[in-house]
Amino acid sequence: MKYIGTKRLETERLILRKMKLEDAEAAYNNWCSHDKVCKYTLWNKHKNVEETKELYKMWVKDYDNLDTYRWIVELKDTHEVIGTIDVVSKKYLKFGSCEIGYCYGDKYWNNGYATEALKAVIKFLFEEADAEVIYAEHSTLNPGSGKVMQKSGMKFEGVQRSRIVDNDNIRNDLASYSITKEEYFNEH
Ligand SMILES: CC(C)(COP(=O)(O)OP(=O)(O)OC[C@H]1O[C@@H](n2cnc3c(N)ncnc32)[C@H](O)[C@@H]1OP(=O)(O)O)[C@@H](O)C(=O)NCCC(=O)NCCS
Repeated sequence: MKYIGTKRLETERLILRKMKLEDAEAAYNNWCSHDKVCKYTLWNKHKNVEETKELYKMWVKDYDNLDTYRWIVELKDTHEVIGTIDVVSKKYLKFGSCEIGYCYGDKYWNNGYATEALKAVIKFLFEEADAEVIYAEHSTLNPGSGKVMQKSGMKFEGVQRSRIVDNDNIRNDLASYSITKEEYFNEH
């Protein structure tokens, strides 16, 4: 794994860039404050914009660390910020193993944006950051997220039983997907 930090990425319809403190208000309004968005996230919806600003302050500072890979996703045509995608844990990063998480405002769902962004991040992590394996997990009650993983070329690994509790206090299984460097380069 090379620690090269969060680089600006572009796709057909999206810009993936470092977040700024000024993004916090739109992030709060577009997704961090929505029950629907936060139902299956491992974090609770934000109570107020101050909470989002505090988080963004911390995240902006975290860009000083070149092992931080975290993007805010912006629509190219309107410049609205619609969500985030990041390497959520640095636990196995030293082995080149990157766990991805993502979250988008419900207004923007089902347009293919999450898949477009995940494909760009997978490309960057394998082609530029020299990742070995990229993986992600989702609640089995949130199949749309699994679909994003499948459409991005990840393979189903299995289900970890009864692993998490969602924000409605319902215990869920966690499905895991991954793509290895070898699988990626066989296709690209
Ligand atoms: C899950 C999430 C990232 C999907 O984002 P998105 O931009 O709508 O994703 P895409 O449009 O690229 O793809 C979604 C796919 O899931 C499908 N889908 C949506 N809801 C579904 C459901 N309940 N069951 C099965 N498939 C579903 C869509 O039809 C689409 O597939 P298609 O292109 O074959 O039609 C988005 O809903 C989100 O941010 N949710 C809240 C946060 C979250 O759950 N993050 C993931 C935590 S693991």
